[in-house]
Order: sequence, then structure tokens, then C-alpha cells
Amino acid sequence: MSESVRLLIHGASGRMGQALLRLCGESAGCTVVGAVTRKVGQRVVDGAPYFASAELHGTPASDAIVDFSLPEAFDAVLALAVERRIAFVSGTTGLSDAQRTALDVAAGSIPVLWAANFSLGVAILNELVERAAAALPGWDCDIVESHHVHKKDAPSGTALALGRAAEQGGATPRYASLRAGDIVGEHTVQFTTVGERIELVHRATNRDIFARGALHAARLLAGRSPGKYALRDLL
Ligand SMILES: NC(=O)c1ccc[n+]([C@@H]2O[C@H](COP(=O)([O-])OP(=O)(O)OC[C@H]3O[C@@H](n4cnc5c(N)ncnc54)[C@H](OP(=O)(O)O)[C@@H]3O)[C@@H](O)[C@H]2O)c1
Repeated sequence: MSESVRLLIHGASGRMGQALLRLCGESAGCTVVGAVTRKVGQRVVDGAPYFASAELHGTPASDAIVDFSLPEAFDAVLALAVERRIAFVSGTTGLSDAQRTALDVAAGSIPVLWAANFSLGVAILNELVERAAAALPGWDCDIVESHHVHKKDAPSGTALALGRAAEQGGATPRYASLRAGDIVGEHTVQFTTVGERIELVHRATNRDIFARGALHAARLLAGRSPGKYALRDLL
């Protein structure tokens, strides 16, 4: 792996894409060789060459692709990573079962890391939820998530991942979703029985935490052997 990892950022015009571009610009550890969005034609903004998604195959070579887009854009960018045999890091949520299977298949030929949430706090919360669920058989388990009004999928990918952790511990989670204002992301996992309740809460106040986690993962994943990697292994 070279000292500065060359990255293709997919979904570059979005809230996450813009955070990735800004943080990568501030870091010596990575260089953006291409920024892909749906609508924009090729141009250079702040040193990062932009490409429309129709030009995906004309983008420059990179060591890894970092994707924060939408499910409808996902298949093409995963296929590009496989074709180029490079690391693929994605935080795109709302993926279908077929897309999750495609990620597993891709992991046979490239290093792949998909995470519903790239924050260290949520990685730890997943572990706490599994432990709590295992220690509290028969308690109700409810996951309440709040996000900004522009978020398309519900329940959030993070809520579903927390739910899988609760199921691992033996609970049967229920979900509730709120969409309001500019909330970056809040998740409460509540365990309730008669007379008492435990609440495990994570609040993200700045989406830079996700972007930093994804860039860190991309730096570590570039050049690794094919396989499916987990964020907790890299953090
Ligand atoms: N895993 C995590 O830690 C984490 C954290 C935050 C968000 N997310 C997820 O990351 C994704 C992006 O979030 P966001 O808030 O940045 O969303 P956003 O602001 O809506 O940005 C979406 C990006 O995807 C591009 N896009 C949409 N449809 C496309 C298509 N058909 N082909 C090519 N590009 C397309 C958009 O390009 P245009 O602007 O040109 O339309 C834009 O660059 C979502 O799935 C969100 O849930 C994950």
C-alpha cells in the first residue's frame, strides 16, 4: 500500500460525499483521484476531478472506492470495484437482499467492507446491545431512531444492525423511526420489563465521524487480500 491511498469517492455531491472530500483534502493519508455524482459532468472542484455516474468507467485508477450513495447507484460501483480488483468501502444503506448477496460474492475477489454506521461509538453500542439482550431474556427490546427529513430509508441501516445484534443475544426487537429537521442520527435501544427499563443511547452530532471512519477503513483495506471485513476488526 502506498503512503497516500488513491480514492474514488462515489456519491461525492451528497452530505457524506462532501464530508469525505473535505476530510480527505485535510489528510496526508489519502488523495481523491475522482469524485462521482449522478448529475455533474466532468470538472475540477478544489483539486478533485468530478465525473458523472455515466462516466464511471472512465474514472482514473484508484486503490479503493468509497461509496456513500443510494441503493439505485450501488450495483454499478460495486461492479467497477470487482472489475478493477480494488478495495470497496461502502456505507450506503437501504440495500436489498440481492445487493447484500452481491457484496458477499464480491468479497471472493476483492476486500470489501460495508457498515451501516462508521462511528466507533456505534461499533461499541452493537456489542453492548448484544450483551444486554443475552443478559435480559424475556425483556421487551425496542429500537427508536431519529434522522433528518431527507433520509430515504427507514428503519435506518444502523437500527437494523443494532436489531441484528439484539437478535444475536436472543431478543426480538421492534422498530420506530422519526424524521425531523436536521438530526444527524440518534439511536436508542430500550430494554423494558415490569417496573424497570434500560436505555442505551447513541447521538451523532456531526457526520464527520462517519466520514473519518470510512476513510480510515479505506486506508487500511487498500491492498489487502480479498474478503469481507468488519469495522470492529479495523478500529
Ligand atoms: N454508514 C454510515 O456511517 C452512514 C452515515 C451517514 C449516511 N449513510 C448513508 O450514506 C448514503 C448517502 O447519504 P447522504 O446523506 O450523503 O445522501 P445524499 O446527500 O442524498 O447524497 C446521495 C449521493 O448519491 C448520489 N446518487 C444518488 N442517486 C444516484 C444514482 N442513481 N447514480 C449515481 N449517484 C447517485 C447523489 O448524486 P446527486 O447529488 O448528483 O444526485 C449524491 O452524491 C445513504 O444511504 C445514507 O443512509 C451512511
